Amino acid sequence: MSDVSPPTPAEAARTAVVIPAAGRGVRLGPGAPKALRTLNGVPMLIHAVRAMAASRAVGLVVVVAPPDGTAEVKSLLDTHALPDRTDFVVVSGGETRQESVRAGLDALPPEYGIVLVHDAARPLVPVDTVDAVIEAVREGAVAVVPALPLADTVKEVEPAAAPGDPEPVLATPERARLRAVQTPQGFDRATLVRAHETVTGAVTDDAGMVERLGEPVVAVPGHEEAFKVTRPLDLVLAEAVLARRRLNDGF
Ligand code: C5P
Repeated sequence: MSDVSPPTPAEAARTAVVIPAAGRGVRLGPGAPKALRTLNGVPMLIHAVRAMAASRAVGLVVVVAPPDGTAEVKSLLDTHALPDRTDFVVVSGGETRQESVRAGLDALPPEYGIVLVHDAARPLVPVDTVDAVIEAVREGAVAVVPALPLADTVKEVEPAAAPGDPEPVLATPERARLRAVQTPQGFDRATLVRAHETVTGAVTDDAGMVERLGEPVVAVPGHEEAFKVTRPLDLVLAEAVLARRRLNDGF
């Protein structure tokens, strides 16, 4: 990957998206893999793909599917309406999110200088948030995260050995300096590839890997509708957001 020749200015501005969708989603309860659960009758993954393809800057979406689910994901992309201006590719994922993202990066043609990484589990992110992330990368940031202030105070604890046991509180970081980070996260492609080639160990987001390189990461405003569907209650919230959108579209 690192022997890719430097992009021309036009290529540097072209944007591809990698959507890791190979997780099982066990916290959501038993059933289909999370990305294939439906919201308003449409698989979460298709919502996420449409949310990315809604941006005019996005020319390619790479979906990273569960290894035993690539055929199913391909047929889903074939049967749901998607914009003509965007290309779609499906690749097989790995054991961890990091491996899945890397599989997606390996599938990118050379002409894309900007890469977004977006969780299939955030199906409802508005296009304005996607565009704001891309814009910040175009303006020169090597790594951009959409982020929101926190409503809750956050404590650092000594995690309990057994679930439910009391946990000693170690510290209370100043809430005003904390942000909850969402996706899509946007990157200068060469920087993200370098991070995936060199950073090891558990990191929960791609920007965290770029931080480990010592490169600057900036936060832009996120959106409350870009929440991650993780637990059963999140499905109820996602359906409510879609119902509100249908109502608004009706007027
Ligand atoms: O598990 P978590 O909520 O952090 O997953 C975030 C995203 O990473 C999800 O879209 C999930 O499908 C994806 N993932 C993946 N490959 C894995 C594990 C998670 O693509 N092995």
